[in-house]
Amino acid sequence: MQKITKTAEFIKQKIDIVPEIALILGSGLGSIADIIEDKQIIDYKDIPDFPVSLVEGHKNRFVIGKISGKNVIAMQGRFHYYEGYSMQDIAMPIRVFKKLGVKSLLVTNAAGGLNPNFEVGNLMVINDHINFMGDNPLMGKNFDELGPRFPAMTGAYNKVDFIREYAIEVNVPVVTGCYLALTGPCYETPAEQRMYRNFADAVGMSTVPEVITAKHCGYENILGISLITNVHTGTSHLIPNHEEVVEAAEKAKPYFKKLVMKLIQKV
Ligand code: HPA
Repeated sequence: MQKITKTAEFIKQKIDIVPEIALILGSGLGSIADIIEDKQIIDYKDIPDFPVSLVEGHKNRFVIGKISGKNVIAMQGRFHYYEGYSMQDIAMPIRVFKKLGVKSLLVTNAAGGLNPNFEVGNLMVINDHINFMGDNPLMGKNFDELGPRFPAMTGAYNKVDFIREYAIEVNVPVVTGCYLALTGPCYETPAEQRMYRNFADAVGMSTVPEVITAKHCGYENILGISLITNVHTGTSHLIPNHEEVVEAAEKAKPYFKKLVMKLIQKV
């Protein structure tokens, strides 16, 4: 609790706006922060006791400013469980944002498609999730001032129809589905792909801890969008790799940005 308050105070005295929307940018998607105007930047490494992401393609900083006239704080570089961070580390920024006055969370990620109808480059509006990480950010003592001991996760993604509506307005096609989170860092074996596709539409290594934390501490709006960077076949014919993830993210950026701008304007 002390760490959360201390970090929020540190950020507050460095910025001159009150952010109302937090944006978490997934693998290869960091440059979506380019759309932020009047930028102020805080590197994670300059924040006392703050974790630093080690994944290639992550810039490891907060970008604070305006998108579509709204005050936002973006994480360019999130913390992944597979990097060795604890669930509490991953939860911390979400709780800090709440303390700063943030009401809405827009979380993005790169994900593997399990649904056979999905194609590389699809944006998937997350309508639900499955936590297959074997851990949970709410383990341990509950801080009642943050949220309840046994929070419901039903309805966590409460803006699905809203996202779909504005995606149509800006002419960015989307699909919708359930995101299944694993620890990674291995990609799924063909047998795992066949198993998981019975449960979910996309698979990835992030997002669920952040969303659990946000739902626990009472964010008003949680919006989740996955970029499908590869599609699993459940066979040995295609071997997933990080390069294709980065490449697909690069290609999707223009329409991903367009949708993000609209959603932030309207949320
Ligand atoms: N599996 C898990 N995480 C991912 C994938 C995948 O296929 N693609 C992008 N992130």
